[in-house]
Amino acid sequence: MCMDQVRLIDLPKVLDHRGNLSFIEEMKHVPFEVKRVYWIYDVPGGETRGGHAFKEQQELIVALSGSFDVLVDDGKMKQTFSLNRSYFGLYLPTGLWRQMQNFSTNSLALVLSSTPFDENDYLRDYQEFLAYRKRNEK
Ligand code: TYD
Repeated sequence: MCMDQVRLIDLPKVLDHRGNLSFIEEMKHVPFEVKRVYWIYDVPGGETRGGHAFKEQQELIVALSGSFDVLVDDGKMKQTFSLNRSYFGLYLPTGLWRQMQNFSTNSLALVLSSTPFDENDYLRDYQEFLAYRKRNEK
């Protein structure tokens, strides 16, 4: 998988005078079945999260509150996405290195995942990630 499959998904928005509502349905607003949902919060200033790749997991990352940056790297190209709206989801296919950084105070990152948690799906070492990419290059 490479950088051109990464995309920002514009989620549905229902706006009325009582406030806004957005939602996500699997296979409709995300191109995978959702097997797990987790969220990252209370991140101290200056901390980074992630800093790994997944062999199988696809994900959608939403800044439900506040803002943060997601640095995405396919081994050749790097791109940073700034998330700061709860109606945009960043879709990440399998096999990309990603790091989350520059969390604002009180930010809340929601992650929808295509797999149950499996530590064996992680590539936590950058050199190992590059070697994995090379082995799997088409
Ligand atoms: P990790 O994915 O490394 O966090 P981040 O990428 O945000 O820095 O996960 C941190 C710890 O939490 C690690 O020990 C694995 C555990 N964990 C679970 O048990 N279940 C989960 O669904 C997730 C995402 C993490």
